[in-house]
Amino acid sequence: MKIVTCVAPVNIAVIKYWGKSNDELIIPLNDSISASLSTDVMCAKTTIMASPLLNESAFWLNGAKQDMNSPRLARCLKKVRERADPSLPEASWNVVICSENNFPTAAGLASSAAGFACLVYALAVLYGVEGEISDVARQGSGSACRSMYGGWVRWHCQGDSIARQLKGPAHWPEMRVLILVVNDATKKHSSTLGMKRSVDTSSLIGYRAEKVVPDRIRDMEGAIFAKDFETFAELTMRDSNQFHAICLDTYPPCVYMNDTSHAIVDLVHRYNEFRGRNAACYTFDAGPNACVFLLEQEVSSFAGAVDYAFPRVGDGADYYKGLGFERVPIEGGLAETLTPAEQGKLKYMIHTEVGEGPRVLENSDDHLLTVDGLPKALGLVPA
Ligand code: PMV
Repeated sequence: MKIVTCVAPVNIAVIKYWGKSNDELIIPLNDSISASLSTDVMCAKTTIMASPLLNESAFWLNGAKQDMNSPRLARCLKKVRERADPSLPEASWNVVICSENNFPTAAGLASSAAGFACLVYALAVLYGVEGEISDVARQGSGSACRSMYGGWVRWHCQGDSIARQLKGPAHWPEMRVLILVVNDATKKHSSTLGMKRSVDTSSLIGYRAEKVVPDRIRDMEGAIFAKDFETFAELTMRDSNQFHAICLDTYPPCVYMNDTSHAIVDLVHRYNEFRGRNAACYTFDAGPNACVFLLEQEVSSFAGAVDYAFPRVGDGADYYKGLGFERVPIEGGLAETLTPAEQGKLKYMIHTEVGEGPRVLENSDDHLLTVDGLPKALGLVPA
């Protein structure tokens, strides 16, 4: 019997991936750049057991049994096995896979990238496959390939379409991320369907991929290498806005941001105006939640502005998640420029930082499966 448990990070793109040039191989229309976030705050965790005693293979996700034959899962499993030494006995054993996110899936935060990165990483460890495997993670969810590395990562659309680390997490240690989780009940279109529709109907998407992104990638790499927050922030905000403009240019449109998202955009611009420089920047994925990048020295003050602009419900217990920070009230001059929203527009706030890539957890207490191959937390984890 073999068992392995790994964790993998969530990644947030600052230059977005939206649209494939090849749906089958999951080749993106343009390069993208992301930061992998600390697995200490948010991560996917996966345990895989392979044993000749298992009667059948199974896949558990957040406590619920899933279809083992889902095409994405089957593709990842097949591709890692193809690279394994065929003489290994475990290559033909059944497997039980158990995966969990340590952050609420109900928050609507992109979890599939971390999940597939974790799955592929754990499979590679299980079958002793070494070397580049971001191309396999890409088969699960395109952006999963960027979660195969820590720090700052670029996914290439050309050649083998692999992801490469630009800089490790220690390169820009002051960088912090505040995730503002927006209260929202609407069911959104999946990114796969959304981007397919954009490729089929948007007349702007080709222009973006050909004429805009190549320069942005170059400039974003430069800003990250030089730790130039001013430029980094402007590129990040412009790229998020352009991605959502393409979503609106899609027919019928894909609407991911809501009124609260737009109010966060407004807050960030007012905050920067007040500071006289880009002190914070936002980016939004295929959902209403904001990821705000800012430097450590700015966290308390910006969070104070968020607290003022988006009054929370209750006393704040469970509202502030992740890394601690000093709570300060909003600066008077800034408050004058803002009108607070109704209470409860934000669900909570997660404070995190750029972190390492996937890794193996060596302690057997970390396994999500019992020796019989059943989820330890069965019945205890909300689906
Ligand atoms: O990997 P997917 O298919 O879930 O697409 C992710 C797309 C965005 O999150 C909106 C942008 C990105 O680059 O991560």
